[in-house]
Amino acid sequence: MNSIKRVDNERQLYTRYRWVWDMISSPEEYESFSKYILLKIKEHETLKTSTLLHLGCGSGCIDYTLKNHYSITSVDLSEDMVKSAILKNPECEYLVGDMRTFNLNRKFDAIILPDSTAYLLTETEIYSIFKNAKNMLNKDGLLLVMVEYDPEYFPQNRTTVEKVRKDDIELTFIENNYAKDLKENSFEATFIFLIRKKGELDAVMDVHRAGLFKKEVWYNQMVKAGFKTELIEDEILGEIAQKGSFLLIGKI
Ligand SMILES: C[S@@+](CC[C@H](N)C(=O)[O-])C[C@H]1O[C@@H](n2cnc3c(N)ncnc32)[C@H](O)[C@@H]1O
Repeated sequence: MNSIKRVDNERQLYTRYRWVWDMISSPEEYESFSKYILLKIKEHETLKTSTLLHLGCGSGCIDYTLKNHYSITSVDLSEDMVKSAILKNPECEYLVGDMRTFNLNRKFDAIILPDSTAYLLTETEIYSIFKNAKNMLNKDGLLLVMVEYDPEYFPQNRTTVEKVRKDDIELTFIENNYAKDLKENSFEATFIFLIRKKGELDAVMDVHRAGLFKKEVWYNQMVKAGFKTELIEDEILGEIAQKGSFLLIGKI
């Protein structure tokens, strides 16, 4: 057996091991979350949304549902994830870019950040993404942000295990969330992949540093960026995503 390789902050799950991500996630798994986003856009839009920018789109599981309603442009830092997304959704526009600094010289009716807020590590990064979003929104456009982890409900040391088999690969996917100090605004999301190919074991430990900010921080940064801001805590979101998850809706 190979010894386990620890890799910090390279997010191999989204690059070299993107195929592992593809084994554990699918548009079907994301369907109820995607429909929830669709519903919230419809409930809150002032302008009827036609064009939509999706930040941190990953492998396109959410776009798969949303593309039936909007013309979508999506951005992700990982070229590998974007390749996966293009295969699922050839009709959408995909760009490789860093959402923290992304500022396209075009405007959209809605901008969403539904599944990657954990990768914002400082208040400055949160502010910068909101400020740029403001520049890219049409008048009366809508910004929708889902924050999955709130320090108050943080699932300290939670470990989940998922087993998937495909062709000659057996995957055991372990995820652990751990905050050394809940006041430090960060936690480690550690992923361990036990990959058995024809019985041969390969083990990888992929440690992602993630941000953990109070609701007030998110709210205040959105207001500071110039949005009329509403914070929504739906019980149903707690069930679809994670207890304590909340939405922020911004309008100019
Ligand atoms: C949980 S995954 C999103 C999964 C996605 N919903 C899907 O359908 O596969 C988080 C994504 O955020 C992306 N990401 C992290 N930091 C980023 C950044 N600074 N700019 C753009 N994308 C980023 C990662 O590359 C990853 O694809």
